[in-house]
Amino acid sequence: MVTVAYRMENEKSNRESFSGTIAIFFAALGSAVGLGNIWKFPYVVGENGGGAFLLVYIICIVFVGIPVMVSEFYIGRKTHKNVMGALRQLSPNPVWKSIGIFGILAGYFIMFFYSCVSGWVYSYVFKAIKGDFVNITADSAGALFGKTVVGPFPPLVWQFIAMTVVSLILIKGVEKGIERVTKTLIPLLFVLIIICGIRALTLPGASEGLKFLFKVDFSKITPGVILSAMGLAFFKLSLGMGTMVTYGSYFTEDTNLITTSAKVAVADTIVSLLAGIAIFPTVFSFGMKPDQGPGLLFMTIPLVFSKLPFGNILLVAFFCLTAIAATTAMISIVEMLIAYFTEEKGLKRSTAVILNAIIILLIGSLATLSADKASILGNVSVFFGRSFFDTFDFISSNILLPVGGLLIAIFVGYFVKKNSVVNELSNNEQLKNRSVITAYRYILMYVTPILLTIVFLSSLNIIKF
Ligand code: PHE
Repeated sequence: MVTVAYRMENEKSNRESFSGTIAIFFAALGSAVGLGNIWKFPYVVGENGGGAFLLVYIICIVFVGIPVMVSEFYIGRKTHKNVMGALRQLSPNPVWKSIGIFGILAGYFIMFFYSCVSGWVYSYVFKAIKGDFVNITADSAGALFGKTVVGPFPPLVWQFIAMTVVSLILIKGVEKGIERVTKTLIPLLFVLIIICGIRALTLPGASEGLKFLFKVDFSKITPGVILSAMGLAFFKLSLGMGTMVTYGSYFTEDTNLITTSAKVAVADTIVSLLAGIAIFPTVFSFGMKPDQGPGLLFMTIPLVFSKLPFGNILLVAFFCLTAIAATTAMISIVEMLIAYFTEEKGLKRSTAVILNAIIILLIGSLATLSADKASILGNVSVFFGRSFFDTFDFISSNILLPVGGLLIAIFVGYFVKKNSVVNELSNNEQLKNRSVITAYRYILMYVTPILLTIVFLSSLNIIKF
């Protein structure tokens, strides 16, 4: 009865949804797979004990990542509403509104810097196609990256282009926009990353790179490393801000929320590992050191890939796949904002898309103009010595997402009726997964909140190990 009532309400409001299980899987995976897979994950794994870190990461996924993702899907599909509307429907207590407020803030803060880095990636696709990396040297790679980042005009223009692409897809709607794009591009991303991985594995000396990535070294596992694994798992799976609530609200009634979460987590981890396999053997086979973040992605990779036969084609493939990852992740963040503006503020979809693009570009330009020490605003300190760029990153990843995730876990674990959760996760008793649901609830109530509290307090240096 309840489901029928919701369906009728949805039909009345013409609310869109994804067409089926495959579309749902690729859309959610598109959100999870992002810049985090390509330059953050492989490096963090390699530096922090390889296989040993992976084990810790997988434990974090099981005890924190998947339970929070299931909870977000529960909130979304139960209500078929944007994050604010969903929380209001599930609880009259205004305290829980803060989950939505934090989520929307986090969405903006992530977009301010994410759209900037995505712009760099787009510009590298263009540069690779033009052949700018042919015969590149360490010096010219550095100079090219400097020009891309410091600008000021090129990075602003590329950020604008990236936001325009995201907006054009979003204006088309959930099924014709998000679903079509993710269903086509995510499989393509897999193909491209496998090609890059195979090429890397066939290089002489590839095993050095694999050793860097997979060698099990438990001596490197410190409390600090465990915390960074947890933070990474959270950012990677797009949790803590309502992105997955919003996507969950477009799920069909027969979607298995628990297995979907598990499949997305597994596939996302596979993409991260494939990225590491594409990157490190190549870097090591040229005797280079993997360095952190932007330097690896934007300088070392063009340098080493360009030395391979067909290197330029590989570079086009590599930056295309990175651009796909960045774009599908941005789509999910901005969709959360659009669902809020259309459903809560009554804006037309196209108006909401344009309004959000303008807000993100205006404030995001502060991130772009402060991304490097040499940028115009590079030395302006905004938050405890951090630039605009670093402030947006720090406040979203270290404060808003963990707090949002913690509140979601407590809300669904303690303040929502058990029956409601059990009914929704079993698709009204259609699925025979009672024991899995029980395990999920125990973890959500007793393990997830404790782990998340520790991560949060230590990321703010309130507790130290
Ligand atoms: N999961 C994305 C990545 O790894 C980032 C993201 C965070 C996307 C939060 C949506 C919400 O790059």
